[in-house]
Amino acid sequence: MSKCHKQQAAAWACLSRSTLGLLASVALFILNPLAQTLAAQTKPWTQIGRAATEAEVKAWDIDVRADFSGLPKGSGSVALGEEVWEAKCSSCHGSFGESNDVFTPIVGGTTKKDIETGLVANLKRSDFPQRTTMMKLSTLSTLWDYINRAMPWNAPKSLKVDEVYAVTAYILHLADVVPAEFTLNDRNMAEIQKRIPNREGKVRFNGLWDVRAKPDVQGELCMRDCKVSAEVASILPEHARNAHGNLAEQNRFIGPSRGADTSKPPSSEPLRLALATETAHAGKAVTANIKTALSIAKAQNCLACHGVEQKLVGPSFRDVTARYKANDQAEAILISKISQGGGGNWGSIPMPAQPQLGSDDARILARWILDGAK
Ligand code: HEC
Ligand code: HEC
Repeated sequence: MSKCHKQQAAAWACLSRSTLGLLASVALFILNPLAQTLAAQTKPWTQIGRAATEAEVKAWDIDVRADFSGLPKGSGSVALGEEVWEAKCSSCHGSFGESNDVFTPIVGGTTKKDIETGLVANLKRSDFPQRTTMMKLSTLSTLWDYINRAMPWNAPKSLKVDEVYAVTAYILHLADVVPAEFTLNDRNMAEIQKRIPNREGKVRFNGLWDVRAKPDVQGELCMRDCKVSAEVASILPEHARNAHGNLAEQNRFIGPSRGADTSKPPSSEPLRLALATETAHAGKAVTANIKTALSIAKAQNCLACHGVEQKLVGPSFRDVTARYKANDQAEAILISKISQGGGGNWGSIPMPAQPQLGSDDARILARWILDGAK
């Protein structure tokens, strides 16, 4: 199953197309004896490693398909679901799935009529303020699967199978899909699928389903001196920047991306310029001139590998301070190391080059580290 489907409940379009595409190319490959011979000759790694055990595959293979294959046996009532929801979900999504605080509402915007027709009428209204999860959802398996692998946000995969059924039943009840005394289980999921408000709402974009159709992106093949028609930058407008506190402090500790430090104006040059233009357009004074080394380090993702005081993938910045204390070439060495990367000083993992980093920023970072990273 495609990666995009596993990660996001709302990524409807990408699922089946890439699965089919993959199957098609695998089939071609297997049918072609020449390709097989070539592959055998050029695969030195076939001698390495071992096949995954059944238990390993089982732990990894948790996806639930649109036809409900993969669904584990279990059941959960709306009543239990309400308990689980209150304890583990309502703090972020609101008691009735209505909260707009950390994410768009889970429930709302669907009607009894939609349950009959299988199409959510409000999706067609441009004046309707929100698209909730229940408005967009077209396959029940996706809701179950998403909760099972990703929620609660702060402790994913901590729910028991029956709790996933229960909390899914509770959401369905809030959307009037099932009655209050309902118990959802692996055998009645397919039946309930027939009552999902937006079950007929999927669209097949031709470019995603047929290789000869018009693709959804336009472009030319180009390897050098390519035309750039527009610089793309993404910014938070100043008034929205700190709406939910500092995003940098609210992320889970897995995965490579960290939230921006929203307590300060953005630190990277393109973003500052974009923000300056934005605020100028809004007729406001430009306040985006605070530039601290720490905010550069955060924006450049240095902190994904370096703690100020703690060794992570690379040494802590304070350890680097100590190491270069008595070295009068230190600034030049660190500027070069920060921009060009390198290895061998702190262990076997090298530091990657940072070609996106301006030379001014590299100097600010080097100075800051040598001054004790405070
Ligand atoms: C700490 C806050 C937090 C808690 C607690 C939490 N969620 Fe979420 N939930 C989020 C965030 C943030 C997202 C959006 C994640 C994303 O898009 O990557 C989300 C997304 C979802 C979605 C997908 C919505 C969509 O349209 O894509 C569902 C369904 C959901 N949560 C259900 C639950 C359930 C059920 C629980 C309790 C077991 C729960 N959440 C607990 C923060 C939370
Ligand atoms: C992907 C992980 C990673 C990222 C991102 C990263 N570093 Fe490093 N960094 C390392 C590793 C690993 C080392 C140790 C390399 C070695 O042995 O010399 C290192 C070493 C260093 C050193 C010590 C240099 C020396 O000669 O002792 C400095 C200073 C440094 N990094 C600064 C930065 C800054 C500033 C950034 C952000 C612009 C950054 N690093 C981003 C992994 C990373």
